[in-house]
Amino acid sequence: MQVLVTGGAGYIGSHTLVCLLDQGYEVVVYDNLINASAEALSRVEKLTGKTIDFVQGDVRDTDSLDDLFATRSIDMVIHFAALKAVGESAQCPLEYYQNNVHGSLCLLEAMAKAGVNNFVYSSSATVYGEANPSPYVETMNLGSPSSPYGAGKVMVERILLDKARANPNFRAVSLRYFNPIGAHPSGDIGEDPTGIPNNLLPFITQVAVGKRDKLSVFGGEYSTSDGTCVRDYLHVMDLAEGHVAAIDWLATQPSFRGVEAFNLGTGNGISVLEIIASFEAATTLKIAYQIVEPRAGDLPAFWANAEKASNVMNWRAKRSLDEMMEDAWRWQSKNPNGYS
Ligand code: NAD
Ligand code: WQD
Repeated sequence: MQVLVTGGAGYIGSHTLVCLLDQGYEVVVYDNLINASAEALSRVEKLTGKTIDFVQGDVRDTDSLDDLFATRSIDMVIHFAALKAVGESAQCPLEYYQNNVHGSLCLLEAMAKAGVNNFVYSSSATVYGEANPSPYVETMNLGSPSSPYGAGKVMVERILLDKARANPNFRAVSLRYFNPIGAHPSGDIGEDPTGIPNNLLPFITQVAVGKRDKLSVFGGEYSTSDGTCVRDYLHVMDLAEGHVAAIDWLATQPSFRGVEAFNLGTGNGISVLEIIASFEAATTLKIAYQIVEPRAGDLPAFWANAEKASNVMNWRAKRSLDEMMEDAWRWQSKNPNGYS
């Protein structure tokens, strides 16, 4: 079975490639490398002993996509390719809608032309918006995320539903990720943000490796157990396995039609201070930090109800918080400058 992986050179994509290749899937990676390095793909090849068919291209380039589908026998598509900086999306919303929403439309059109009907979409917990209480359950109505990034995820989920209503052969899975952290246990692939990291764990590991002086903890007076924000952090290898579970589920449910959404999280809420303590315990390093004003747009707390993925796809996050911290640190300490 041949799987097209858009955005496959990125953080979650590269880890998913390892799992797909280890499970015997053939992969075609399509990525414009706007936020990734081809080195990630070389490392996946070394880790798996398999060769990756890589095409550098943009999901909005319809000619290139048509050529890709015409020259390969693609059965399923996993669509990671997107811009993902929530704050940046408020500064340049059109660029985000162009890349993330228009890009998804171009891909879906190319799939329709080629008669490919199996789609796995990288959605996000952000689609639940501000009003829904935690734990988030897939049956909840989607919210109105404040950022263009989040709004784009809701739009694409809606597009998938409409596409499935209009095309009785279309089969899609929307995977709503919570907060992926960590790295492959080898420390050879991991998250490689450009510039100052927006996300918590890359910031912590850059403080630990001496690239940043101290962590700013955004907000210390939320109504949570210790006053800091609570999230559902999951190991990126568990998340990667969730994609294989989705592909396997589609492959073994030939009569399934439509769109099915799954939360991919652990079901546990962890605070920022607990993350710092856990990183320090797992690495015996001290993280300098200071509690500062809350970050605009942050919700105090959210976590997943992850039962549906377990009941339907037989997927469950298995790795511990300690493993998340140890693996994040192994990647950062082996690669202080990421892939460069
Ligand atoms: P990433 O930036 O590491 O990976 C995205 C990849 O897509 C990169 O390799 C980038 O070069 C590529 N890309 C971007 N625009 C493209 C385009 N127009 N054409 C071709 N390639 C393009 O991000 P990630 O963390 O691996 O996220 C992957 C997906 O998961 C994204 O859709 C993201 O929105 C979603 N997601 C991520 C998180 C998270 O916390 N990392 C959480 C929820 C959802
Ligand atoms: C986690 C917690 C911060 C950095 C975002 C997107 C979400 C998804 C994942 C794509 C929060 C705190 C962070 C720092 C801090 N991405 N923090 N100091 O905001 O939960 O989710 O990434 O879909 O859609 O919104 O993740 O890692 O940025 O923050 O105190 O320097 O860490 O306030 O509570 P977030 P994050």
